[in-house]
Amino acid sequence: MITLPKFFLALAKRGWAQHVIEGLEGDAVVSELNRVGDLLGTRIRGRTASLMEVVRPQAVDDAHPRSLSARYGFGALPFHAELSHRPRPCRYVLLGCIEPGPLSTATLLLDWRALDFSPEELHLLESAPIFVRTGRRSFYSTILSSDRSFLRYDPGCIEAIDMRGQAALRLVEQRLAEGLPEVHHWHRGDILIIDNWRVLHGRGTSEQDTGRCLARILIDA
Ligand SMILES: [Fe+2]
Repeated sequence: MITLPKFFLALAKRGWAQHVIEGLEGDAVVSELNRVGDLLGTRIRGRTASLMEVVRPQAVDDAHPRSLSARYGFGALPFHAELSHRPRPCRYVLLGCIEPGPLSTATLLLDWRALDFSPEELHLLESAPIFVRTGRRSFYSTILSSDRSFLRYDPGCIEAIDMRGQAALRLVEQRLAEGLPEVHHWHRGDILIIDNWRVLHGRGTSEQDTGRCLARILIDA
């Protein structure tokens, strides 16, 4: 009989899981992140073209021009699905805490399936056209995928092109604002595994460079 790691159950049940190993620090966090990632699928490159990215709260001027930090800086980062600017966003996002920083800048998690979209609203989300801005590779799409497996949502790269698209974006924005997110406060060595097709994530206000440093890997499955 194969024994699955404990986090698989939480991941299947609520779309995200915490994986904590006592005393995990520095490079060992990254090694464990990669080990868990390899159990789930294939590592893929993020915006910086790296298989492992280091994520720190950033000032507007220091951030990648198309990242959410370029728009929101140290302010709260809105809920989003990672890699919404790709035709198929990655399935999992894994974050490992190298340094929580002096202030605990929380990660917020919200399952879009718990936002109570009615059948008519789901139809709007899967049919209203939106524009996904990503330079030369920009494309047209919908917020909800045609098989309803994921929600493409990221205020940093998604724009409405007609009234229906505006209504769809407003609807998601409104439901997210009303939703009750789970809040994760970081401790050194914590690993979060997020089903990116199901759970949107955001960040609380950082206000200044808190020193928080997370390692991030993205997984296709
Ligand atoms: Fe993100």
